[in-house]
Amino acid sequence: MELLSVTDLVKKFGDTNAVNGITFNIEEGRCVSLLGSNGAGKTTALKMLSGLLEPTSGSIYFQGTKQRDIRKYIGYLPQYPAFFNWMSGKEFLIFAAELAKVNRKEAEKRSEELLERVGLLDARKRKIGGYSGGMKQRLGLAQALIHRPKLLILDEPVSALDPLGRREVLDMMREIKQETTILFSTHVLHDAQEISDDILIMNNGEIAISGELETVMEQYRKPIIRIEFESAESLEWLNRIEIYSFVSVVNIQGNVASIELTDMEYGRQILLEEIVNQRLPIRKFELVQTTLEDLFMEVVKA
Ligand SMILES: Nc1ncnc2c1ncn2[C@@H]1O[C@H](COP(=O)(O)OP(=O)(O)O)[C@@H](O)[C@H]1O
Ligand SMILES: [Mg+2]
Repeated sequence: MELLSVTDLVKKFGDTNAVNGITFNIEEGRCVSLLGSNGAGKTTALKMLSGLLEPTSGSIYFQGTKQRDIRKYIGYLPQYPAFFNWMSGKEFLIFAAELAKVNRKEAEKRSEELLERVGLLDARKRKIGGYSGGMKQRLGLAQALIHRPKLLILDEPVSALDPLGRREVLDMMREIKQETTILFSTHVLHDAQEISDDILIMNNGEIAISGELETVMEQYRKPIIRIEFESAESLEWLNRIEIYSFVSVVNIQGNVASIELTDMEYGRQILLEEIVNQRLPIRKFELVQTTLEDLFMEVVKA
């Protein structure tokens, strides 16, 4: 079932089109990553979906209807969450529950349940000021889940954490995704690849690529021959091979050339023959596949 459906969403700040007409759906039960480099428009998009920022135009449908107040359906963890350092973890959750209009009895029950869930039961009476980065972020997750939202929106949930904190939060997200639909942003591809089912890649306020992670990776997987030369002197040859019909792109970085092919078998044979015949000094000749990383770089460069 479609949980969220976004059409032509736009946000302008003066002359800046932070979000420039994005359209996508989120299916219930999926974990979706919103990928993009800094300034791509991720935070702005997530704030509109969370009801914190009024769109300039476009529509957001939740479970098929245009909701007047979407906040009760959504749990949101901002990119830079602010905690009251003098509160204890437990007090903070009770406070968050009040803001979300959860009744006192449910707040008590739910906060204990969540503290246990995010591994902060023992630390619940300690001041937040003494928490580690990972603990704070886990408390942030508990806060976002306090009113049992249907969709959890997390803005760069692991970006500010050290490797240990990162691991803690990613593991937690993996558990949460069993029962709650998640949309999270990141500029780190590895995180997206690790836990998401679907990806949306944003660039300059637009969605450049979207779909199921596996499908997108498969779709953009292209055969490449990577040749490392002894020196950069073989450039002339590289310029010449561009005319072959089996060569689609030649990328050169220092002594390394990445040659994208349309026909791997034939291309490999011809290129090897030429290298031998012309006695080109190579160090390495390898067959590789483009990865999501290559794809991401391609999109971001464009
Ligand atoms: N409140 C604002 N006022 C003016 N410009 C903004 C504001 N918020 C974001 N922007 C601009 O919108 C663009 C997208 O920003 P943002 O959504 O924060 O990107 P991301 O989260 O992907 O890094 C950037 O160019 C940013 O400078
Ligand atoms: Mg951001």
